[in-house]
Amino acid sequence: MRNDVPRLQGDRIALEPLVLADSHAIQRLFPHWEIVRYLSHGMQWPYPADGARRLLQEVTFPSVDQGIEWAWSIRLNGKQRPLIGVISVADRPNDNRGFWLGLDWHGQGLMTEACKLATDYWFDVLGFPVMRVPKAMANMPSRRLSEREGMRLIQVGPRNFVSGRMPAGIWETTAAQWRSRVSASPSHRNPHPLASTE
Ligand SMILES: CC(C)(COP(=O)(O)OP(=O)(O)OC[C@H]1O[C@@H](n2cnc3c(N)ncnc32)[C@H](O)[C@@H]1OP(=O)(O)O)[C@@H](O)C(=O)NCCC(=O)NCCS
Repeated sequence: MRNDVPRLQGDRIALEPLVLADSHAIQRLFPHWEIVRYLSHGMQWPYPADGARRLLQEVTFPSVDQGIEWAWSIRLNGKQRPLIGVISVADRPNDNRGFWLGLDWHGQGLMTEACKLATDYWFDVLGFPVMRVPKAMANMPSRRLSEREGMRLIQVGPRNFVSGRMPAGIWETTAAQWRSRVSASPSHRNPHPLASTE
């Protein structure tokens, strides 16, 4: 039983608590080089045929059940609500948010929208004071996203990724910085927990 992960509604997408049935869509969309190359080297590559199911069952769901991770599928609004990516926030040192988006949906601002929902939840509902995220310096789409969010680069050092060892940055924003940026942005929406999957 997954707990404490609400559904969050955005303008174009919704975040829904990850369930085991999501492993099929994840297995189809996730194992592409353009998606995995700047992810942490801990994952198996080439990706095994049961990789998505095992990740959910052996890593994600236990962390959610322990209350240290909140993980969502990203779904397009509308009747069919297809899964297009995954985002999670976690109570881990210097590693508080992770995400990926299926290739067909890049470049439309959809992850920016997903990040607003998940980050609002991190600060406003979970009450954490700081969010820190690691990312390869070469991962320009992810860096641009953090820059647009007003995150600051606080540290750079080598780190191991699926594509090898390379410089990585730790990006940070505080609750106060996030809220001041949010209040200055009229287009920003707060998260709207609609229903629990409990
Ligand atoms: C990181 C990742 C999610 C970024 O995806 P993305 O589609 O670029 O991110 P967004 O959804 O925020 O979209 C931003 C882009 O959409 C464009 N865009 C179009 N409409 C937009 C809108 N309404 N609002 C904001 N941006 C919009 C922006 O100009 C920007 O394009 P640009 O970077 O070429 O300037 C994606 O590259 C990915 O899944 N990468 C692999 C996994 C990964 O690296 N994860 C992060 C590990 S740290």
